[in-house]
Parts: sequence; structure tokens; C-alpha cells
Amino acid sequence: MLLYAIIDWGTLIIQACLAIFMFYMIAAFYTGAPLVGTRRKIIKKLLDEANLKPGQLFYDLGSGDGRVVETAVQKYGVKGVGVEMNFFLVWYTRLKARIKNIKNIKYITGNFWKTDMTRADVIYTYLFPDTMEKLKLLFEKNGKKGLLVITRAFEIKGWEKKLIKKIPDRDEWIYYYRK
Ligand SMILES: C[S@@+](CC[C@H](N)C(=O)[O-])C[C@H]1O[C@@H](n2cnc3c(N)ncnc32)[C@H](O)[C@@H]1O
Repeated sequence: MLLYAIIDWGTLIIQACLAIFMFYMIAAFYTGAPLVGTRRKIIKKLLDEANLKPGQLFYDLGSGDGRVVETAVQKYGVKGVGVEMNFFLVWYTRLKARIKNIKNIKYITGNFWKTDMTRADVIYTYLFPDTMEKLKLLFEKNGKKGLLVITRAFEIKGWEKKLIKKIPDRDEWIYYYRK
């Protein structure tokens, strides 16, 4: 009897978790971009080109499974902040950081539209073009002087004068802007 109750509850909890996860996946289409990880080969390339300095504060807006911010901290010695609205992903990335014993990394469960990024030296994004349009205004208002913004695949329209580098990634580009 008890075993059946445990199985029933276990199934119910798993289904609830899956439903919440799916909800976040769908919501992400409207809040920034859905979960699509940056390929590892590209992460190395885009971070190499960024000329990161140890101690710099590096943000990934919509950090997904944490692969970019994790690599930035481990390989380039920056202090990393991942902002992610899907709390399952945040739990996963926090667990990963703990298992790998990665210091200087912080994951914030939340909406990057409401996140204070005024102290960021570098911000990385892999988000929809219309999201970039709106983030541009946020960076202009709140970003510190000299802020480096790296965007994958989608450029920031209207920031042509701030573009400092553009490197190829297959048939896409990685864009670097300096505020
Ligand atoms: C295309 S993925 C990028 C993942 C990671 N940055 C990478 O390049 O591997 C976009 C991520 O942004 C998250 N996201 C979308 N809108 C968001 C918002 N408003 N606040 C926080 N995270 C958001 C999604 O849940 C998803 O994990």
C-alpha cells in the first residue's frame, strides 16, 4: 500500500516538475529566447576574442546550463554571474559549480530585465533580436562606461558605432560592442 502511494506521489511530482520546466521553456520565447546552448567550440572562440582580464565581472543574461559563464570563470579568471529565469537550470548550474568546485561564480534565479547589471564589465547574450533591441536601451541607461557587450548571432541595431569587432562563426557572427 505504502509502496503504491510512494509511486503515485513520485509520478505526480515528476509530472509537475516537467510541466513547470515546459512552462519556463515556452515562457522564454516571450521573455528573451528559449534554451539553446552556445556550442563549446564557439564559447572558446568568443571568449578568446574578448580579451578578458582576471577579476572582471562577467554576466551571461539567460545563462541556460551555465556553460559560457563557467568557461569564462575557469579559463579566464573572471568573476561570473549567470542570470536565468528557469530555476531548474539554476539548481543544475549551482550543483555543477559545487561539484566542479568552481569559485567566483554566482547564479541568480530571476528575470534579467529586473537584474542590476550596473557593475558588469562584460555582458554576454545569446537572445532574440527584439530582446537585444530592448536590452540596448537598458545598457545605454545602466551599463558602466567601457562595458563590453558580446552578442552571439544577432547584432544590436543602432549600435553600429560601438561595434569594435565582428568575427565569423560558420554562417553567423559574434559581435563585440564597447559602450
Ligand atoms: C538561447 S539560451 C542561451 C543560453 C546560454 N547563454 C548559452 O549561450 O549557452 C537563452 C536562455 O535565456 C533564458 N531566458 C530567457 N528570457 C529570460 C529572462 N527574461 N530572464 C532570465 N533568463 C531568461 C532562457 O531560459 C534560456 O535558458
